Amino acid sequence: LFHSACQSGEKKPPQAERALREFEGAYPLEARPLGTVRTFDIVAEPTEVPLIDGQALRVWAYNGQVPGPQLRIRLGETLRVRFTNRLPQETTIHWHGVRLPNAMDGVPHATQKPVQPGETFVYEFTPKDAGTFWFHPHVRSSEQVERGLYGVLIVEDAEPPPYSRDVVWVIDDWLLDETRQIFPRFNTRHDLAHDGRWGNVITVNGRTDEVLRVRPGERIRLRLLNASNGRVVAPDFSGLQAKVIAVDGMYLREPIDPSRFELAPGNRVDIDLTFNQLSGEPLRVVDRFYARQPNLLASILLEGDLVDTPAFASPARAHVPAWKEGLQVPEHHTFRLNARGGGPLGIEWTIDGKAFAGHEHAHEAGLTLKQGQFYRLRYVNESARLHPIHLHGMFFRLLARDGVPVNEPFFRDTVLVHGREEVDIALVPTDVGSWMMHCHILEHAEAGMMTMIDVE
Ligand code: C2O
Ligand code: CU
Repeated sequence: LFHSACQSGEKKPPQAERALREFEGAYPLEARPLGTVRTFDIVAEPTEVPLIDGQALRVWAYNGQVPGPQLRIRLGETLRVRFTNRLPQETTIHWHGVRLPNAMDGVPHATQKPVQPGETFVYEFTPKDAGTFWFHPHVRSSEQVERGLYGVLIVEDAEPPPYSRDVVWVIDDWLLDETRQIFPRFNTRHDLAHDGRWGNVITVNGRTDEVLRVRPGERIRLRLLNASNGRVVAPDFSGLQAKVIAVDGMYLREPIDPSRFELAPGNRVDIDLTFNQLSGEPLRVVDRFYARQPNLLASILLEGDLVDTPAFASPARAHVPAWKEGLQVPEHHTFRLNARGGGPLGIEWTIDGKAFAGHEHAHEAGLTLKQGQFYRLRYVNESARLHPIHLHGMFFRLLARDGVPVNEPFFRDTVLVHGREEVDIALVPTDVGSWMMHCHILEHAEAGMMTMIDVE
């Protein structure tokens, strides 16, 4: 399956061979299309929605709603999205976290021409993985995502586990002005110099007072997405019977406790929630990323009669490789993350001293990797700010933070690198193409913290 590696007859080090075999055991290298095509029409356009506390909010929306439509398909089905741009700007749709053919990745000028106002573009692909993914523009994303353009893509397992319900919470953070409309200046000096645009209103599914009503006995799969431009949240599920079963769409080797999981912009977690208690006071799920100012995310209200949910084991993926020996392999590349004055916005965020000059300019790849090889990469944050680093088209294991081994039993597509921190990751690229790597604090990305990883 890895033609280039096979044809070149290169001898891979035994560790790399083992890593690849383990990876194959965990995740399919090829999509397995069943031949069913699921077609959706998506239109991006400015509109008004009674969003935050029922007030008319001027947004840019997919199909007139924020969050955008929830696309739900089964593993093996082919997704076809006929997308029309009715925005006053060019745009694209990027399918965050989905392993797909490079031409469908939605990166302007790199994988497709931007979709001009009035134009249509068809995205079509068969995801290789089941899980919780999302989609958003990759043009002026700090403005377009903030204005309301994002939606969830759920790829269900061929045989979904028998939860009583599957619920999605899309978290967003809005910066509103004194007229309670979206603050109309983007990429401000303040936001660029800090951790991006942190707002003054946090919503779940577009509401400041989202309530999930459950009946005693129910067992729910709760999928959380952080669609904020900059805000990191750490949802507190204490007092609930909660387990993390998936991160960034992928099942864990075994479920873990959700306490203080840092959900950075772009991250998803799927939580397995069991309700054996009786009805009572609403349970508040708060964000404790900054413990001194917990923010309400949503409430859970237990009410009604007991329902009977048959017991079943939490879904897991036994073959997530440990890659413990990965720390012995020398790192292939160290990315240095930093900032400097200058550039069109006054501050530039850099990777290895380079600021991405905008998608419309030619860029050299920041790194070239070979398909099917095992790599260890390091991020050194030379700045004091947060950088949730996201890779397109592949996912990776976290190996260490500040040199201390971390044994997360799962893959990710986005990892939060804290101020001055060093983070080691490992990956095996599976798909040939030119894939973006960038900070998912969208202001940092727009100010240059993006690069391409070429996989050949
Ligand atoms: Cu959700 Cu290039 O990112
Ligand atoms: Cu950043």
